[in-house]
Amino acid sequence: MSEAPDPAPAIALTARGLHKSYRVGGRPLHVLKGVDLEVCEGEILAIVGKSGGGKSTLLHVLGMLDRADQGQIVFEGRDRAALGAAERARLRNQAIGFVFQFYHLLPELTALENVLLPAMIRHGGAAWRRERGAARERARALLALVGLGDRAHHRPAQLSGGERQRVAIARALENQPRLLLCDEPTGNLDGRTARDVQTLLWGLNERQRQTMIVVTHDERLAEEATRVLHLDDGRIRERSTPGVEDLPAAAAAAGRAGGDPADDPVGAAG
Ligand SMILES: Nc1ncnc2c1ncn2[C@@H]1O[C@H](COP(=O)(O)OP(=O)(O)OP(=O)(O)O)[C@@H](O)[C@H]1O
Ligand SMILES: [Mg+2]
Repeated sequence: MSEAPDPAPAIALTARGLHKSYRVGGRPLHVLKGVDLEVCEGEILAIVGKSGGGKSTLLHVLGMLDRADQGQIVFEGRDRAALGAAERARLRNQAIGFVFQFYHLLPELTALENVLLPAMIRHGGAAWRRERGAARERARALLALVGLGDRAHHRPAQLSGGERQRVAIARALENQPRLLLCDEPTGNLDGRTARDVQTLLWGLNERQRQTMIVVTHDERLAEEATRVLHLDDGRIRERSTPGVEDLPAAAAAAGRAGGDPADDPVGAAG
């Protein structure tokens, strides 16, 4: 008896025909020249390419932080173009975590307050009074997870570059995003700490099928991703399309029945 083929993995995010130009001093700089890509739920997609090639630009567009001049973004079946500003902001806050290349921590807040910020935005007003205890617990646990349990009350200026990067990672995880976008998450770390951060991210992927797009110059990170795309001259030049068997073991095992998205990354990783 022949077995039914595995169902295709669900698509978390699709981009079609993305174009993006900047204009500086009256001259256009065409950075994205028709980018197409798809990210499946539970995969780690690495994006590599030369400096200045548009990787951060692409990630910002995919995360709906910036808009393309042309093209389509569909996140979890919803077209970006059909979303109002408030709905887009809600999705960014609750469903998408972003680790910025240059961290973008708020200088007047401590590490702990920076990590708490997405939760404060999520549960504004009266709900925050109810939620803040649990949010604080999670923020503390996330800081411990990235090795900064004893830096919670430092402001960004009182942290090293790599420590700021790790605070940014903790902040991106605070709201338990379904899609995590990381721009050079190990770019400022020593080899050992870079591996610790990779272990943390890959652990989230294995345990709860955390979907991730990781822009990186770190070869080891790229090698160990589910799939690697090269951004070259504004287009995706090479792509290896995986079969289901190439998805991470946990993703394949969880099947499309899915892990529990409500799994707590802190608890699960602890
Ligand atoms: N806001 C902006 N205005 C004008 N030009 C910009 C802007 N942001 C980026 N650029 C230019 O667009 C190009 C792509 O920038 P981007 O930051 O996306 O590159 P990258 O691939 O992330 O590079 P790196 O690996 O160095 O981080 C660069 O040449 C950059 O100078
Ligand atoms: Mg960049």
